[in-house]
Amino acid sequence: MSLMFSGHAGVMVVLMILALFLSLLSLSSAQRPNIVFIVADDLGWNDVGFRNPDMKTPNIDKLATEGIIFENAYVQNLCSPSRTAFMSGMYPFHAGMQHEVLLPGQAVCVPLNYTFLPQELKKLGYATHMIGKWHLGFCKWECTPTYRGFDTYFGYYNAAEDYYNHSTGWDPSLDYHDNLLHARNYSGVYSAFTFAQRAVDIIHQHNASQPLFMYLPYQNVHAPIEVPKMYEDMYPNVVNTGRRIYSGMVSALDEAVGNVTQALKDRGLFENTLILFTADNGGPLERYANNWPLRGGKHTVWEGGTKGASFMYGAGLQKTKTTYDGMIHAVDWKSTLVSAAGGTPETDIDGMSHWDSIRSGLPSSRTEFIYNIDDFEIPVEGHAGIRVGDYKLILGYPGGPDGWHRPMNRTQDDIFEQTVYTKGDRPIHLFNIREDPTEHNDLAQQMPDMVAKLRARFEDYKKTMVPANFPNTDPASDPRLYGGAWTPGWC
Ligand SMILES: *[C@@H]1O[C@H](CO)[C@@H](O)[C@H](O)[C@H]1NC(C)=O
Ligand SMILES: *[C@@H]1O[C@H](CO)[C@@H](O)[C@H](O)[C@H]1NC(C)=O
Ligand SMILES: *[C@@H]1O[C@H](CO)[C@@H](O)[C@H](O)[C@H]1NC(C)=O
Ligand SMILES: *[C@@H]1O[C@H](CO)[C@@H](O)[C@H](O)[C@H]1NC(C)=O
Ligand SMILES: *[C@@H]1O[C@H](CO)[C@@H](O)[C@H](O)[C@H]1NC(C)=O
Ligand SMILES: *[C@@H]1O[C@H](CO)[C@@H](O)[C@H](O)[C@H]1NC(C)=O
Repeated sequence: MSLMFSGHAGVMVVLMILALFLSLLSLSSAQRPNIVFIVADDLGWNDVGFRNPDMKTPNIDKLATEGIIFENAYVQNLCSPSRTAFMSGMYPFHAGMQHEVLLPGQAVCVPLNYTFLPQELKKLGYATHMIGKWHLGFCKWECTPTYRGFDTYFGYYNAAEDYYNHSTGWDPSLDYHDNLLHARNYSGVYSAFTFAQRAVDIIHQHNASQPLFMYLPYQNVHAPIEVPKMYEDMYPNVVNTGRRIYSGMVSALDEAVGNVTQALKDRGLFENTLILFTADNGGPLERYANNWPLRGGKHTVWEGGTKGASFMYGAGLQKTKTTYDGMIHAVDWKSTLVSAAGGTPETDIDGMSHWDSIRSGLPSSRTEFIYNIDDFEIPVEGHAGIRVGDYKLILGYPGGPDGWHRPMNRTQDDIFEQTVYTKGDRPIHLFNIREDPTEHNDLAQQMPDMVAKLRARFEDYKKTMVPANFPNTDPASDPRLYGGAWTPGWC
């Protein structure tokens, strides 16, 4: 009896060990895909070669056309809000990040109790690296990339700095950092080269027994409009100077993407790498970007401000060389990448995983999303909208500029003219985005019931809003108090 029992228990133990071994095997780090998440700053819908043959982006086009191009991947209309969504999987209006972008001296960062994407991937065994633009707050070290899940960081905390001297705001005010140190010795070097080289170095030094996560939020193609002349010279047919330089900036980005993919190939990592590429917001028309045929641009909740030029390529995708028209929002990328990594997405965040849908070309399970809720009334009002099913409701001022614009190419010094807005002009717009993706046909007057339905849903979301955190600039942030460089430690 006792012998039989111990024999039975022995079999059980062997089976348990086998099951444990198999489960460990299925979760083995080496099998998880490497993930490269590239964000192009201020890239317009129509600024990529796979949409606009005037753009020279062969590396991006190859990945996009051999992967999956997203036709309905939405982002926020501005930088800090989109990056909040990418890293936390939360809507900016839940994080107090819904108004404008972070200004350099504001003592604000994305709530520290939010878990960021690299922290989730570290739990799955990933090495995590970030190169580029943060823009999620840096007033104390706890707010900065290496305290929020990244093993290494090279880049800048703010926005709109010079591509060569890496300064923004007061002078001198360096904003370039190599992990915890100021990176003072890159003056005169265009950031796209430094970022690509750092990415290549990391890939070459990476210990392949661990999966790699690289977050690469590029400075290109945000203003200031600057690029080495050789890239500008790729566009002799573009008459407008700003558009010509901007186009060159896109091609410099494309070359960087090419260098990063080449390094992955050289290291034998490419076959097991998943690449996600997205813009952070629509292109700013006044800074030479283009979103044709979509309406509006950066700063607006029109489709031109909120549809990201975006695609995925690589490991795990089954139905490729195609487009995907399911609805995706910026808050979803965190859960989607965690799923792609073999992890379990969080259930208490705004985002949801679309991994199974995207990889097999199945419908998206997202049926609605918030474009934005901006409760900070002065100096703007509006910038608010919701999508439910095929319909989109815009409440208040959508933001400027408005209209439909071809790439700027009329005269050498042509500049874009902003639409003048009168407060309270058009309180409500309603569109059927499936039938009218370019927002030509306002249905608000014709469909009052649909307006009421979407407005009620919007109000449901608004009840969960955290007030916008948008304080005055803190004088204690002044980089001149820190040897002329933006430095944490003043909140
Ligand atoms: C973070 O803290 C805020 C304020 O205390 C709270 O409202 C929110 O629910 C917390 N969020 C998470 C994800 O823990
Ligand atoms: C950096 O370049 C900008 C022009 O883009 C200039 O205004 C600024 O003074 C320069 N800053 C330094 C510290 O050289
Ligand atoms: C800048 O200095 C750091 C630290 O000494 C060094 O690792 C890096 O290679 C230098 N970069 C350049 C471009 O000189
Ligand atoms: C890409 O790599 C080539 C070859 O090393 C180099 O000449 C070029 O400057 C790199 N481009 C970028 C944008 O880093
Ligand atoms: C890579 O990591 C593994 C596991 O930690 C270790 O055994 C191996 O020595 C490392 N390889 C190199 C080249 O550092
Ligand atoms: C810009 O306009 C010129 C003529 O003014 C034309 O030759 C050229 O093809 C256009 N370029 C683009 C990229 O549209």
